[in-house]
Amino acid sequence: MSPNVKRLGEVQNSILRSPKQCSENYTWRQKARLILRTYPTLYNLMANVYTKCSACYSGFAYRTAVLEKEWSARDASSAEAYWANRNLPSKDFLLQNITTPSPANMLEIGCNCGPNLYKLSLKYPDATIVGTDINKMAIQKGNEWFREEGISNVKLFALRAEEHNQFPDKSFDVVFSWAVLLLIGPDKIGKVLKEMFRLAKKELILIEKHEEDEKKDPRGLGYVDHGYWKRDYVCLLKHIIPDFVYGRIDVIKIPEEVWHPAGRGRISD
Ligand SMILES: C[S@@+](CC[C@H](N)C(=O)[O-])C[C@H]1O[C@@H](n2cnc3c(N)ncnc32)[C@H](O)[C@@H]1O
Repeated sequence: MSPNVKRLGEVQNSILRSPKQCSENYTWRQKARLILRTYPTLYNLMANVYTKCSACYSGFAYRTAVLEKEWSARDASSAEAYWANRNLPSKDFLLQNITTPSPANMLEIGCNCGPNLYKLSLKYPDATIVGTDINKMAIQKGNEWFREEGISNVKLFALRAEEHNQFPDKSFDVVFSWAVLLLIGPDKIGKVLKEMFRLAKKELILIEKHEEDEKKDPRGLGYVDHGYWKRDYVCLLKHIIPDFVYGRIDVIKIPEEVWHPAGRGRISD
């Protein structure tokens, strides 16, 4: 055997140590992994449980903060894409579902640059229309674009959904959100909904992912469905607003062409 081959053999031997021979040099994590690897079924089971638990934990504990960070950082090109949607027929769904006659003022929470407010401002030129969003760039661009269109009854503000202290109770005849609460996890949804309820005088409209399923969602706090929060909003309102008096609640199925106006889902239902 040549000296080179012999040396290679020595090196290999020093790497291929059995767990028994050297287990005292391993950390407890490495030891656990080595033991588990000798029992593949147990290892797979533990790996599955770990993955499920950590996904669940991060879903509940961090999801809202992670999504807020992501949405706050979106740039002007994202706002441009939203603005391009302002004239879509799907935007009429909101107009058709406002039941308050001649609302004097309206608020959209999570409006981005205001594509949902465009047709609204044309239909109600005398109303004061306010939009708020966590993304400062979208708000700045939206205010510019409304000005350029000669629309003066829409004002946008950079605010988090749960922080509208500058507006007194019942400031708006109509308060609504469209595809925003599906980004808010159980850690914050109560606060956000209470805030929307506090601000609304006559009507609260939630165009969101709703499902009444007591088994999946007993308190209405929601569960993650296709990456977004789906929940029973009627049940949630009952839980978080003790003096909630049912004037009238309508639950309306959102037509496919409204939720996926381009025929493919940005946010699947
Ligand atoms: C899917 S987009 C919907 C935008 C608009 N409502 C529409 O239908 O075109 C979600 C919006 O919610 C905003 N958003 C996300 N988390 C928010 C939070 N915690 N507070 C306020 N806005 C938030 C995002 O910046 C984004 O503009």
